[in-house]
Amino acid sequence: MPASRIPETSQAGLHDRLDEVVRRHLESSWRQPLRRHSIEAFESLLPRLRAAPVLVLDSGCGTGASTVHLAQSHPDALVLGIDKSAARLARGRELPDNALLVRAELADFWRLLLREALHPARHCLFYPNPWPKPAHLKRRWHAHPVFPDLLALGGELELRSNFELYLREFARALALAGVVSAEVVSLTIDQPVSPFERKYAESGHRLWKLTVNLGARP
Ligand SMILES: C[S@@+](CC[C@H](N)C(=O)[O-])C[C@H]1O[C@@H](n2cnc3c(N)ncnc32)[C@H](O)[C@@H]1O
Repeated sequence: MPASRIPETSQAGLHDRLDEVVRRHLESSWRQPLRRHSIEAFESLLPRLRAAPVLVLDSGCGTGASTVHLAQSHPDALVLGIDKSAARLARGRELPDNALLVRAELADFWRLLLREALHPARHCLFYPNPWPKPAHLKRRWHAHPVFPDLLALGGELELRSNFELYLREFARALALAGVVSAEVVSLTIDQPVSPFERKYAESGHRLWKLTVNLGARP
């Protein structure tokens, strides 16, 4: 497999419009209509989601390898892997009984979970698309209009990336939302949790992890 590259950006530091964009999203509520396929996917899973004693989310799960890993390490939880890519999800694997994979848009699915007051105890975002071009700031989750909903879901949030600036910006966006307890640390990989983690570790990238407790929600 060819070595992968660390995302290159022309940004010298945090995006100079980061604060303005994040503040605007924090002060308004986002009303983009939910996509029909996300609603249908959500409704088909609703009985299992409601019955779950504990919910763990693997958002942007890709092939679901990390979903399996999380299900094995949280045997008492239902672990839900969500990804928009049918091709990645179809690279199928056998799932433990306490894991599910669903094809949906995260920005829809998070809002649907909130609407039903379904809050994860743990929420993993492993290697989200980095969108390193400054013009793509609003595609990064912390500068996306869904960011307030992501925070409102609560739980122990863990974000991993090979793009340190992404996590630094995420931590800044959290601080703007009044959450100052985020930690960003360098990761040492023994057992990769996902294909992207494996690929980046094998390419010798420095990997980063942000963790924050967003609290339990009623
Ligand atoms: C870089 S890959 C990482 C996949 C996996 N987490 C891993 O570590 O191997 C990013 C994943 O996020 C998914 N993704 C990106 N934007 C998404 C969105 N808006 N809704 C759902 N999935 C999304 C992509 O389809 C892709 O599978």
